[in-house]
Amino acid sequence: MNAPLLCCRGLEAGYGTSRVLFGLDFDIRAGEVVALLGRNGMGKSTTIRTIVGGLRPQRGEIVFEGRPIHAERADAIARLGVAIVPEGRQCFPNLTVHEHLVAFAARRNGVAEPWTPARLYALFPRLAERADHLGNQLSGGEQQMLAIARALSTNPRLLILDEATEGLAPVIREEIWRCLALLKAQGQTTLVVDKYVERLMALADRNLILERGRITWQGSSAELDARRELWGRYLGV
Ligand SMILES: Nc1ncnc2c1ncn2[C@@H]1O[C@H](COP(=O)(O)OP(=O)(O)O)[C@@H](O)[C@H]1O
Ligand SMILES: [Mg+2]
Repeated sequence: MNAPLLCCRGLEAGYGTSRVLFGLDFDIRAGEVVALLGRNGMGKSTTIRTIVGGLRPQRGEIVFEGRPIHAERADAIARLGVAIVPEGRQCFPNLTVHEHLVAFAARRNGVAEPWTPARLYALFPRLAERADHLGNQLSGGEQQMLAIARALSTNPRLLILDEATEGLAPVIREEIWRCLALLKAQGQTTLVVDKYVERLMALADRNLILERGRITWQGSSAELDARRELWGRYLGV
């Protein structure tokens, strides 16, 4: 059996003296889509921040493709092939759409079909129409598509999305879900955090529920679908 792409072992992290994560153990295998679920403030973004090197873990280890990364800087982790679509999108106001898609582009060994701007525009035709617009001239939905396209332009081995459909109109949300399903069909390994449990279940192979910094349940989407009591208890839906 292949080693997992990402392994987190005994991960503890927090801010200053306050602890937020209390020993997370989980793996993500190549080609898998894993959903990280839990109510507000349970530590989902903190988990993501710790994986991508924005926050140094207090204990535990993170191994990516067999290499420990928990002491690496964020830029080094990004170069290894971990891309994040952060909460709040964070597009550059004074770069054009096209500049976003070429500025961060990275070649990667073993990627059969790299994400060229042409391929990204085919995935998000709206971005093609806006290619010369600046980041601050885009709607919220367009900014979100751009944030995803920019992350893909690095040809990531692991794509991480934090609340990618937050605050978007339903039709735009659906476009994001359609895109994530397409990426999954192409084998993109993905860790996703979102509020829409039904849509996440349809997408994810495996689900982790985070409750006050601990993983209290994990299982397949079929198992989560059958355990509706978990939804009320841990997900607030
Ligand atoms: N930058 C920060 N400084 C201090 N505390 C933070 C910071 N970011 C988040 N927290 C706290 O960490 C806990 C987990 O937050 P977070 O990981 O953002 O949760 P989630 O993404 O699941 O909503 C919360 O209690 C939150 O108040
Ligand atoms: Mg969050």
